Amino acid sequence: MVTRDSIIFALDVGDLGSAVRWLDIIKGRVGYCKVGAELFVSIGPRIVQEVKGRGLKCFLDLKFHDIPNTVSGAVRSATRLGVDMMTVHVLGGLNMLSAAVESSREEARTLGVDPPLVVGVTVLTSLAGPELMQVGLTRSLEEHVGIMAGLAAKAGLDGIVCSPKDIRHVRSVLPSSCIVVTPGIRPAWSARGDQARVATPRGAIDAGADLLVIGRPIRDAPDPVKAIEAIVSEIEA
Ligand code: C5P
Repeated sequence: MVTRDSIIFALDVGDLGSAVRWLDIIKGRVGYCKVGAELFVSIGPRIVQEVKGRGLKCFLDLKFHDIPNTVSGAVRSATRLGVDMMTVHVLGGLNMLSAAVESSREEARTLGVDPPLVVGVTVLTSLAGPELMQVGLTRSLEEHVGIMAGLAAKAGLDGIVCSPKDIRHVRSVLPSSCIVVTPGIRPAWSARGDQARVATPRGAIDAGADLLVIGRPIRDAPDPVKAIEAIVSEIEA
C-alpha cells in the first residue's frame, strides 16, 4: 500500500546544522531520508544516528561501484551503521552485486537485525544521448535499463532505482518481490529543475513505483510541510 512511508526525502545538504533542521521538519511525515555522498563525506556516520533517532528510515545512497571484495566491505560497514537501504551500481557486475547481497545478509545475521535493502542503480538519469555512446552503451536506453534490471534480479538484489519513465518496462523484467525506487518526481505544481525524465507522484505510483525519492519539490517549496502533505494526499488518493 502506498502511504507517506513510501516517500524518501532527499537530504541534499552539506552540513549538520541544515541536515538537522530538515530532519526536524520531515520526521513523522515521510518514511525515509536519503543521505547522499555530499552529506556523508562532509559529516560522516553521525548522520545515520540523527536520521534514525527521529524515527525515520535511513537510505544511504553512496552508489557503491568497485571490486567485489571492496563493495562487500562497504556494504558490511553500512549494515553495521544500521542503515535501512543502500545503493550499488548494477554496472559493477554480477559478482559484485552477489557479494553485496551476501555480505549485507551475513552481517545482519551476525548482528541479529533485519538485513538492509540493497538496491541497484540501473543507468544514471543524467546520462543520455551522446554521453551513453561515449561510455560504450550503444543499445537503446530502454534496452539497457532492462538488461540492468534483469541482472539486479539475478544477483538477488532487493530492487532497483530507475527513472519513472522506465518503470513499466523494468516491471516486465523484475520479479514482483523486487521494489522499484524512483527519483525524478515532480508534482504538477513544482519546477522540473535539471530532471529530464519526470513523472508526478501519482503517475509514478500508477506506473508501478514502490518508493518515491523527492528532494527539491519539498526543499524549495515556500512551505515544505504543506508540500509534503499535498504529495501525501496525491499518492493516497
Ligand atoms: O531534488 P530532486 O527531487 O531532483 O532529487 C532527486 C534525488 O534523487 C537526488 O538526491 C538525486 O541525486 C537522486 N537521484 C536521481 N537520479 C538517479 C539516482 C538518484 O535524481 N538516477
